[in-house]
Amino acid sequence: MNTFVPYGLAFALLTLAGCLGTETDDDEGFCDLDNEADCGAATEKSSSFILSQLQFDLEVGGSHELRISDGRSLKLRLLSKRPLLYEIDDFLSSDEADHVVAEAGRRGLVRSGTEGGGFAAGVRLMDADNDRILTIAEMRRTLEHNFDAHFTEIDVRRMYDELRLDPNGDDVITPEELQQAMPDSKALGEYVRQVMQKNARLRGRNSENMFFFPDRETDGIIQSITDRVAQAMGLPGTLVEKSDMQIVHYGIGGHYNIHLDSAEAPPDRQIPCCTRFDGVKACRSCRWATLLFYLNDVIEGGETAFPVADDPSFDADIFHNEFRENLHVQCDSESVRLRVKPEKGKAVLWYNHLPTKEGEYPWFGAIDHNSRHGSCPVKQGEKWIANFWIKVTDDKNWDLSHQE
Ligand code: OGA
Ligand code: FE2
Repeated sequence: MNTFVPYGLAFALLTLAGCLGTETDDDEGFCDLDNEADCGAATEKSSSFILSQLQFDLEVGGSHELRISDGRSLKLRLLSKRPLLYEIDDFLSSDEADHVVAEAGRRGLVRSGTEGGGFAAGVRLMDADNDRILTIAEMRRTLEHNFDAHFTEIDVRRMYDELRLDPNGDDVITPEELQQAMPDSKALGEYVRQVMQKNARLRGRNSENMFFFPDRETDGIIQSITDRVAQAMGLPGTLVEKSDMQIVHYGIGGHYNIHLDSAEAPPDRQIPCCTRFDGVKACRSCRWATLLFYLNDVIEGGETAFPVADDPSFDADIFHNEFRENLHVQCDSESVRLRVKPEKGKAVLWYNHLPTKEGEYPWFGAIDHNSRHGSCPVKQGEKWIANFWIKVTDDKNWDLSHQE
């Protein structure tokens, strides 16, 4: 096998859904598996509380008026059933939205990262059919898997030209061609890094972000938003305070390709849900629900796309094999079933997991694969959002009671 790639690359038969978190970004980390309490290890359930979802007798397009105890009334409009997705106008006041943006700016944002591990470690070649040649589609997957680089077919051909990777132009890369063009395994990563630096559309995500942690916040407005979220969602404050509130800023061309907010448990390994990202070992990000707030009006573009909302025939492998994650290519396509227009103060609420069943372990339902979504590129203006992620661990008691 290694004769094919002499510098440590190996053609691997990889299942495409093999990676853990869908976001390899900076926002999630690891917990210490030696300290089970940190990782939300399962304990016996004592509370009868279940993670109930906001379900009303509604058809898509219908609304439900929700009164919450601060005297407000929130109108939830159902946008889809799978995922269970609501739009809520004026969840935040204009002043609150302005305050959150100003406070995020004051504390500082950093460029959002979703780089795969390929820049530092060896490159894994995605030879899905294990025939030891890379087709263009397999090369696209390789770039995506290793570098979170979303090349179109045209981009790949340009790369072949510039690196002289495919001199006979037959669109497949053989062992000899690879060895000839790239005697050093870092060459591919170097090229991809440079191209992505020049052309941000190729990145999985092009934005900057920062985090507020509600349970550690002293900012009165963030505290009152947190209370409102708990009330609106019918969840205990102790659980909602453990959320991460991520502020994201997109400039012109800024986007975030299609992804799931919550990470699926791998079939073959026990990986606990993360608590906070201050440990060192593997954990996965279990974001049971997402409340996304639009913090400004975008002049053009920047819609939140749910390409497979209420799509009964959705198939994750087909979706992936058709490269439908790429919103620079896909956003305006008819195949995107739902787009939400950013409007200042509006919230969208959806559940990344299916409803909890009685006695379920962990205590939340399986991932709802129809919750895939992303941000279309901003065409004019800029876009500010806040993601309020309701996080859970495998341990119900910990989730409901633990205080740091
Ligand atoms: C996210 C996300 C969508 C948007 O940040 O996880 O999906 O509209 N954002 O910005
Ligand atoms: Fe998201």
